[in-house]
Amino acid sequence: MELKIALLPGDGIGPEIIAQAVGVLNAVEAKYGHKFTYTKALVGACAIDATGNPYPDETHQVCLDSDVVLFGAIGDPKYDNNPTSKVRPEQGLLAMRKKLGLFANLRPIQLFDSLADRSPLKREVVEGADFVCVRELTSGMYFGEPQGRDEANTYAVDTCKYTREEIERIVRLAFDLAGKRRGHLTVVDKANVLETSRLWREVAQGIAPEYPEIKLDYMFVDNAAMQIIRQPTYFDVVVTENMFGDILTDEASVISGSLGMLPSASVGSQVALFEPIHGSYPQAAGKNIANPMATILSAAMLLEHVGLTDEGTAVRKAVDAALAAGVVTEDLAQKGEKCYSTSEVGEYIAQQI
Ligand code: IPM
Ligand code: MG
Repeated sequence: MELKIALLPGDGIGPEIIAQAVGVLNAVEAKYGHKFTYTKALVGACAIDATGNPYPDETHQVCLDSDVVLFGAIGDPKYDNNPTSKVRPEQGLLAMRKKLGLFANLRPIQLFDSLADRSPLKREVVEGADFVCVRELTSGMYFGEPQGRDEANTYAVDTCKYTREEIERIVRLAFDLAGKRRGHLTVVDKANVLETSRLWREVAQGIAPEYPEIKLDYMFVDNAAMQIIRQPTYFDVVVTENMFGDILTDEASVISGSLGMLPSASVGSQVALFEPIHGSYPQAAGKNIANPMATILSAAMLLEHVGLTDEGTAVRKAVDAALAAGVVTEDLAQKGEKCYSTSEVGEYIAQQI
């Protein structure tokens, strides 16, 4: 298969982890006789530094001209503690999601067997955990207007707004996904307080009769935050709004042992994008210590998305082999255990393929 891949390494550890994912994709290409071509483009702080715009038009065009996008991470501390800076790297990520129409972010939470004893949670709690969080990605508080301050700078406002249409398309996608899995869908909201959440429930209830085989239930987000670590095996597919999904998936990453393990796929109307759920981890940038597995597993999701299922499985198995052999970065290494560098882990996984 010929595949055009847009490569957006971004900031911080982004370039290092993307390099390892590309090494793994090269191994897949060689083994299975595919032809992958890459076009690199800027997004985030590096794009601001080079062009003044965190998501330049050239980058958008590169994404549109590609079959899929592989993205690293975004963010730079030099913008974080400067609340007055008008342009921020994260705006690049949000603009990219919005302009590419990526309304659904799929974040699979899975325990790798060999990590059961490395999770900060007890083995008996996390064993068997396997669910997908479907996070709405292009609306809600991240995008609602008004957003900003009054002129006298006495208040700030963010707005959570959802249209029926926005809720419907994501809830349908979640129902469909549940149908391919264990048939259980949980809508996570705050319907006891928020009007948008009540609309989410109303829309989900309206769609439910079309999916009689799916067991549908609802959970308040505060309760969900607790149940995710108390009884993660309860969940199969969780669907939720943008901000709740952002928060719950960082929390859920603990189940897998490390935030450095969780991949994601963002899909919508046009090109699909694959990215680790973690951020740019600036403290580790350039040190060759960050865990490349979330990005490598994102590459596995990318392969599966274009129909290369055997190849995706091969990548997952190779990651498993690295975990089983203890070839892991410092975030996963246990006390006294040897840990490996980003590139050592990436190269080991590529070799397995
Ligand atoms: C994520 C990240 C982003 C988000 C940030 C970097 C804007 O936390 O992808 O989860 O909040 O969506
Ligand atoms: Mg996040």
